[in-house]
Amino acid sequence: MLQTNRSTLTQFLIEERRRFPQASGDFNALILDVTLACKAIARTVAYGELGGAMGNYAPEVGGSVNVQGETQKKLDVLSNELFLQRTEWSGHLAGMASEEMDLPYQIPVQYPRGHYLLVFDPLDGSSNIDVNVSVGSIFSVLRAPKEVVESGRDVVEADFFQPGATQMAAGYAIYGPTTMLILTVGRGVNGFTLDPNLGEFMLTHPDMKVPPDTQEFAINASNSRFWEAPVKRYVDECLAGKTGVRGKDFNMRWIASMVAEAHRILMRGGVFMYPRDTKDPLKPGRLRLLYEANPVGMLMEQAGGRASTGREPMMDVVPTSLHQRIGLVFGSKNEVERIERYHREPAQAKEGEPLFASRSLFRD
Ligand code: F6P
Repeated sequence: MLQTNRSTLTQFLIEERRRFPQASGDFNALILDVTLACKAIARTVAYGELGGAMGNYAPEVGGSVNVQGETQKKLDVLSNELFLQRTEWSGHLAGMASEEMDLPYQIPVQYPRGHYLLVFDPLDGSSNIDVNVSVGSIFSVLRAPKEVVESGRDVVEADFFQPGATQMAAGYAIYGPTTMLILTVGRGVNGFTLDPNLGEFMLTHPDMKVPPDTQEFAINASNSRFWEAPVKRYVDECLAGKTGVRGKDFNMRWIASMVAEAHRILMRGGVFMYPRDTKDPLKPGRLRLLYEANPVGMLMEQAGGRASTGREPMMDVVPTSLHQRIGLVFGSKNEVERIERYHREPAQAKEGEPLFASRSLFRD
């Protein structure tokens, strides 16, 4: 039975804004523009092979690789264009940064410039598109530095080097069996489900909370030989289950789509790890700070969970480059804190046991 008595995203944003009588409405308008881009992406993703947008982006047959060294899909490029197109005209933004663009994006001269910076990964987990597994868009809104707003100058990379704690808003859209938008504007986390007929996001999951404890973890185990000792210790203890120091069995999941993993964790708890490892000395982690770790970190913390590099809270990290990679651990608070503790005391074996139990799948 379809329910029609729910708040729309627009109503939700207007009610939130009433708490700030001096607010201009620019921020709400920006969020609505971003979500219109997400709706357009949802539609394109939903058409799959019928939409003619599957496969690799191949402008001159040779294909295309983004600044991350990843092969771009047609849908990556299209989703990026939708984000730009839906938001650049409005006068709310001073500039943007995207996973798919090497340099900051300048608002074209014919449009006014505004107070905010938008940072996004337009289609996260895009290797999953061809196999019809959930993907998502993830974004973060920052205030533009005062001097940028006053001068109206072009943005430079350093304008985006703000710690996650200063984010104004963060969210993601997940394109799964249903399309959902999960959003924080700094007062809790709320989930909206797209009504495909009305084309509206409806509030279906108010005040989402990550349970503090969990028996589910997510990590790409094929990297186990590159993990650092605290991560090996944590995973070994989970795998030992009831027979080990944790005294309970754990379940493991890996979708290879961070947005989908974050969504599962917001819905039912869990811990996600793409930790710093030794696989490629030039890459201190796999995921990106500005448009993956920071928005997911803000969402987790606003939902009572935690996000960390393993060594320090993610929200405290001051970025040093636009496409900076970082070790990322997030989810149920007590598990993330345990992993942080293991990073502080990596050499200690627990309760007289050898550091990596002999029954471990991932032992050295
Ligand atoms: O951003 C890239 C991404 O696709 C994430 O969504 C996901 O968590 C990760 O990469 C998967 O990495 P791997 O292919 O190493 O499992």
